[in-house]
This record gives sequence, C-alpha cells and structure tokens, in this order.
Amino acid sequence: MQHKHRWEGAHIKEFGMWSYTESENAWGAADAPRGALASRVLAMPTDTNPKGDIFGGWIMSMMDMAGKMSATTVANGRVVTVAVDSIVFRQPVKVGDVVCCYTDIVRVGRSSITLSIEVWAMRQGQGDRLKVTDATFTFVAVDDDGRPRPLPARN
Ligand SMILES: CC(C)(COP(=O)(O)OP(=O)(O)OC[C@H]1O[C@@H](n2cnc3c(N)ncnc32)[C@H](O)[C@@H]1OP(=O)(O)O)[C@@H](O)C(=O)NCCC(=O)NCCS
Repeated sequence: MQHKHRWEGAHIKEFGMWSYTESENAWGAADAPRGALASRVLAMPTDTNPKGDIFGGWIMSMMDMAGKMSATTVANGRVVTVAVDSIVFRQPVKVGDVVCCYTDIVRVGRSSITLSIEVWAMRQGQGDRLKVTDATFTFVAVDDDGRPRPLPARN
C-alpha cells in the first residue's frame, strides 16, 4: 500500500502510535490558517486522554496561551481571558503532532481584544497542516489591581 506520508505504516507501528483515517488526513488540507503563527508545540503522551488522543483541555490551554501572547502585545501589558466562544474540535490531535496556534484580531474595543484562534496540526511533524480546532477568545487589558484599563491607541 502506498502511503501519503512517511510516518504512516511501519513508523506508526514501531512507536505504537495511532494511525489516521483517510478523512482525518484529508480534512482541511487545502485550507490555509487565518492569522499569524503565535505558538508551536509538540503534543506529548502526558497530554492524552485514556483513549490516546490529546485532551481538549490541553488544546484550549495552548489556545489561551497563544491568544494571551498576541493580546498582550496589542494591550502593551497584562491581559486576562474574559470569554471563549464557539470552540469547535474538528479533528483529534495525537501524540507527536506539531500543534500550531494562529491568531487574528476580530475586534478591538475600549479595553477588550477579540481574537480568532485556529489550531492546526502537522501530523507527526510532517506533511500538510490540518485545522483541528478553532474558537473566538476575548481578552481584557487590566491594571495592577485586575481592573479593566483602556487599550493604548493603535496606529
Ligand atoms: C475580565 C474582567 C476584568 C472584566 O471586568 P468587568 O468589571 O466585567 O469589566 P467591564 O464590564 O468594564 O468589561 C470590560 C470589557 O470586557 C468585555 N466583556 C465583559 N464580559 C464579556 C464577555 N462575557 N464576553 C466578551 N466581552 C466581555 C466588555 O465588553 C468590555 O469590553 P470593552 O471595554 O472593549 O468595551 C473581570 O470579569 C475578571 O477579572 N474576570 C476574571 C478573569 C480571569 O480570571 N480569567 C482567567 C484567567 S486569565
């Protein structure tokens, strides 16, 4: 059988990893991420659920951190997460995938920044990126006392 990626077949068996269905591999392959790359991390065995897939909570944590880094730059200082909307887990993430978070500004208010955050996975660090999760996160710029503060003027 001809494998699309080098990691399919023998390599997967050798390390006891899970293989992917055709639809898992094909889904979203033609799309491109929205926004800029904010973080990239390797999915590790410690982040799995009992079935061997990566926990949704771990993925949300990656998104929160990526969004926080992007929002902090816009806010020029401390931000907190106030809301997560419309999160969709589209495909499983598995051990060995390189997990990339992309952020894009949707709205900037007086103290809040709303970001589109997309998570794309490179299966075993190779091949096409696949969109696995997306959501909208809102962050609020806060002062030292944790109260909302106005965002700095933008160019
Ligand atoms: C975030 C927080 C400081 C906002 O305080 P608040 O008194 O509700 O502030 P405001 O009502 O003035 O709202 C501040 C901004 O947040 C926005 N906001 C508040 N609730 C929101 C929600 N559910 N969804 C989206 N935006 C929201 C407001 O629209 C406002 O935006 P704007 O200034 O751009 O118009 C406060 O709710 C808080 O400390 N929450 C806990 C944060 C936290 O612990 N996060 C997890 C760890 S980072």
